[in-house]
Formats: sequence, C-alpha cells, structure tokens
Amino acid sequence: MIKPKSVEEVLETARIEEVVQDFVNLKRRGVNMIGLCPFHAEKTPSFTVSPSKGFYKCFGCGKGGDSVNFLMELEHMEFPEAIRYLAKKYGIQLEETEVSQEVRQEQQYQESLFLVNEFAKKYYQEQLFNTDLGKSVGLNYFRERGFREEILKKFGLGFAPDKTDAFTLRATHAGYNLDVLKKLGLTSQYGRDFFRNRVMFAIHNLSGKVIGFGGRILVKDVKAPKYINTPETEIYNKSKVLYGAFFAKRAIRKEDECILVEGYTDVLSLHQAGIENVAASSGTSLTVEQIRLVKRYTENIKILYDGDLAGIKAALRGMGMVLEQGLNVKIVLLPEGEDPDSYLQKVGVEAFREYITQQAKDFIMFQAGLLQEEAAGDPVKKAKLIKDIVESIARIPDPLKRSLYVRECARIMEVEEQLLVNEANKVVAYQFKKGQQEEERARLKEEAPQPGEVFAPPVPQPREKQAPTGDEFQEKDIIRILIAGGGEVFDPEEQVSVAQYILANIEDVLDSFDFPLYGRIARECHKRLLDNQPVDTTYFLNHPDEEVRQLAVNLLSSPYEYSENWEKRWDIFLSSQKMPDENFEKDSTQALKRFKLRKLNKMIRQNAEKIRQLFEQKSDDYMLYLKLDQKLKVMRNELAEELGTVVL
Ligand code: UTP
Ligand code: MN
Repeated sequence: MIKPKSVEEVLETARIEEVVQDFVNLKRRGVNMIGLCPFHAEKTPSFTVSPSKGFYKCFGCGKGGDSVNFLMELEHMEFPEAIRYLAKKYGIQLEETEVSQEVRQEQQYQESLFLVNEFAKKYYQEQLFNTDLGKSVGLNYFRERGFREEILKKFGLGFAPDKTDAFTLRATHAGYNLDVLKKLGLTSQYGRDFFRNRVMFAIHNLSGKVIGFGGRILVKDVKAPKYINTPETEIYNKSKVLYGAFFAKRAIRKEDECILVEGYTDVLSLHQAGIENVAASSGTSLTVEQIRLVKRYTENIKILYDGDLAGIKAALRGMGMVLEQGLNVKIVLLPEGEDPDSYLQKVGVEAFREYITQQAKDFIMFQAGLLQEEAAGDPVKKAKLIKDIVESIARIPDPLKRSLYVRECARIMEVEEQLLVNEANKVVAYQFKKGQQEEERARLKEEAPQPGEVFAPPVPQPREKQAPTGDEFQEKDIIRILIAGGGEVFDPEEQVSVAQYILANIEDVLDSFDFPLYGRIARECHKRLLDNQPVDTTYFLNHPDEEVRQLAVNLLSSPYEYSENWEKRWDIFLSSQKMPDENFEKDSTQALKRFKLRKLNKMIRQNAEKIRQLFEQKSDDYMLYLKLDQKLKVMRNELAEELGTVVL
C-alpha cells in the first residue's frame, strides 16, 4: 500500500497543465491555458486549465477538477491507479508499507480463494463452449434468449453439467484443496458439485475478480429454485455486491448515472444493447453497502422496476437509506409483466431508451403519486400516506431539496403545504431527539467507571475556570447574534433578516454543534423560520425554557463578558469584541466565518483520524480521505485568509 507521505508528494508535484497536456493540446491565454475539451465534442475550445490554481474546468460541459480527478474522469482510473500513474510520470519513488508476515499470509490465502473461483469459472466456460452437452443445452439456451457469444464471454458465463462431482474431481486433481472448494460453496459438505445442470453466471467484484456464482435452472421446475447462488463466503457477501458493477463502472462515471435492475439477465441484455451503466441487486432489496458502492461513481440512480405493484411497494419501503445517502433516485416502472430484459428485447433499444428516459420519475414524487391513487377517498389511508412521505422527505440531508419536495408533494397529494412542513419538522425533531439521547447514553457509559476501575468522584470545577471546549466560543457568538439581532434586517433589498441569513448559512452543520444548548437553540430558530415565526430578542426573553431565557439575559446584559479576558486567557482570536449597535451585517458575516472555520478544522481533524484508521487497516480507501483532506484545507485556508487568521 502506498504511504500517505508519498501520496502527498505526488499530489504536490503534479502540475495540472503538464498532466492535461499529455492528452489535450493546450494554448496559453493570459494566465490560463485553453484547449478542446476531451470530455465532450466541441469545435471552439472552452476547456480551461489554470496552472496557478491547479485545476481544469470546461465551460462547455462543466467538468472540472484537479490532476488526479482529470485522470480518474478521462482514463477511468481508480485513485491509487492515478497516483501510480503520476508517480511514474514525475519519477517519484512511491514508498509502500511493508506487510507483515501475517498480513501477507492472509493476502495469499485470499488470493488463493480467487484463484480457485477463477478455475471454476474457466471450467464452466469450457463446458459451455467446448462440450457437446454444453453447446446443445447451455449455449442453445442463451442463444434462444437472444444473448450473443461476445456478451457471454465478456461476463464469464458458463454451464454446469448434470454430474454428481465432475467439477470437484477435476479441481482436486488439479491440486485444489477440497476444504477450500467447500469453503467457497463450489462443493457440498458431502463432496458433490454444488451447481448441477444450470447455466452459470460468474459474479465479479469491483476489480474483476470472481467472488461467486449464480446458477440458473434450464427448465421450468416448480420445486427447484430458479437460481441458486454461492452462499456467504469469506469473499462473497451478497449485500455488498452489485452484479455487473465491474463492467459498468466506467460507463456509470461517464453517464453520471447508474441504472439498477434486479436480475442477472437484465444486466446482460442492457449491456448487449449498449447500455452499459447498469448493475443488478440480484433480487434482494438494496442495501446501504450497495448504495455506497454506487456512490463512488455517481450520485444519480435510476431504478427499473417490473410492473408488479406489491413488489414495488415493498421495495419503496427500503428506500429511505438511499435518500439518506444524499443520492438522487429516479424510478422507472416497466409495463405490466415485463422485466428490463424482456421489455428491451420486445421493443428494441431505441424505444427502450426513450421509455426509461421519459418514464423516469423522481422517487418521492413517484411514491406520493402511487400512494395518492391508493388512498383516494380514504382519510385514514391518506394520513398514513402523509406519514410515509414525510418520513422519506425528512431523510434527505439537503434542506433546500427537502423544502422543494414538501411543496411538490403537497401539490400532488392535495394537502396544505404547511401541514407537510409541520409533519416533516416533527420527524426531524424526533430523529434529532433520538440522536441526542443516544449521544447522552454513550456519554454516560463512557463516564461510568469501568469494571475494576477505582471509582473516584470527579472534582467539581467552576465552569469559568475551564477552557472553552470545542467550538463553544464560536457557537456562542452565533447564538448571541441570533438573540441580540436575529430580527434585524440583514439585506433590505431582499428582505432578509439576520436570523434568516445566519441559519441559511449554517443549515448544513445544524447537527454538529458541540454545545447542546446552542445547538438546540439554533435548530429551534431554524424551525421557527420555516414556520414563518419571528426569531428576535422578544422571543428569547419570553422563551418557555428557563435555561434559554437565562442565556438570553446574560448575553444581552454582558456583551463584553468574554472578550478581552477570553482572548488573554485562552488565546482565542477575536475580531469583533463589541456588541455591534447597528452593524449586524458585518458582525454576523464575521461570526459565521469564524464558526465555519471551526467546523472545518473539526472536519479536518476527524478526517485525519479516519485516514489514520484506514491506513492502519491497510485499506486503500484512505487515499480518498487524503484527497478530502486537501480540499478541506484549501477551504479552511481561504476562509482563514478572509478572516486574517494565520493557519499554521
Ligand atoms: P427474477 O425472477 O426476476 O429472474 O429474479 P430474472 O433475473 O428475470 O431471470 P430470468 O430472466 O428469468 O432468467 C431476479 C434476480 O433475483 C435473484 C437472481 O439474482 C435473479 O437474477 N434470484 C431469483 C435468486 O437469487 N433466486 C431465485 O430463485 C430467483
Ligand atoms: Mn428476466
């Protein structure tokens, strides 16, 4: 594995213009360089490279990024691959971590499992293409279903003959260990072949290694299952795999969309027709791991469902986590009785493409429409339906998107928008409360004496004597402004209040306040604004919660409380030490920047910890976080510069 130090060295050395120039002709124009965009067809150059800023941007198609990004986009490299490419280009010697004896043995063992699966795949392929039985039964079956040989070869399809232990014998004679065959699910406990008289689908992981198989029965048999699959093994975990993802990843990136289907044959069919950004969940409902896998390549998912309502409803219930991952989900309902494979073969690729483009409905709208139809005229059902929709909406991380959905769903379901807003807020509040309770429990558990530990009561410390922990100061600053000036006008032209301005800017971090009271207040203000209720001094001074009232009084009566002293005592940088009398605009902007700066610093720390952990676990994923690290630092430094703070 490449050491982080080396990755950083590569990232620092790579010059964007030099990297791009290996693929695109660039001409200087002022401080930038321009050329014809490699990502889309164009006659006049709109592809711009900025050597000073270290990135490229196409004003035609919108693509942009840094050197590594460029290689990943254009050459479809994985992150480590891009790093190795750049290291080679710049003659940088990459330092790799030494693997321990144990790790090496583990790797070799894993490797051997892949090798056995590879052997099995070859065996099944040979049976399909080179034996009379395979040809007449297996190959014929595929042919009749319209699959051409090239697609069969590409996806590693094969045939398992109806023999008790032909494969097992062949494998053991070739020197493979019987226990390993059993472990991989290729051979049963009694030494028989697991797959018999079935056409075989090899299942690959993201790097193209064979991790398991699916076998389809050739005849209609009510007793035997249509497909049998490799059981869970050390290298095959059904919930983490998307069938076909290895062959689809480039296309998914290129199209910036992943089409999800249910069946193996659906993947084959679409691929064969030239629609390559497709993968299958293999009949199970989607898992978080599968979604994360897609998210590495795109944020846009299009799910094709067979036109069977009961199944769809079941599937919809599991979609919350897809929304939670912040992905954009579209649903396409296929005509009754068709699956993607059958429908494509029926209407042809042109009509199919058109259908899945035109019929694609946004997930939430789809759900709203579907349930609306069902609940028409039934108030009880309708109430339940509102709850379901609101549950979905509340899971969307982006507040802006959330409010758009609320509006649109209210329209579809013919209810007052305010009703949905209130319901959604309830769910958000509930989820928040639950999170808080969990945190509290975790905290109590941490503080409880461990078994065998001598219990020592904590020494009480006066609060003022403690250094402000975490982001307390910046958080307090934000709350101070909300209380003292939330109702003031921030931008007279746009009719925006200070509270609106501040909350719009911290919406994405509302849940990451360190100090619970401040977090609670911020979130409550946010909710009030959504409900069109005022956030101003009067409100806080009359707040039902004693603690909030007290805080308001304190902050309003002693604006200097923490200024000079805090700076001296705790070495905190303060730029606005006074309560502004009229200039809330400048004050809130500054406070916001300081607040965000702290949050960024915190994210950088958490990210660093993540990098450390992944690195220790010998996972290549740490490099992705390393990249995030760089991005965060750029943002942090820009912000710090604006604030005039020196970041070391
Ligand atoms: P389908 O029943 O829709 O089959 O199951 P299909 O993919 O359309 O296959 P053909 O066209 O009839 O050959 C969808 C997926 O569910 C899993 C398989 O991954 C299948 O592709 N499945 C289905 C099983 O694992 N076992 C089964 O018995 C049935
Ligand atoms: Mn099918």
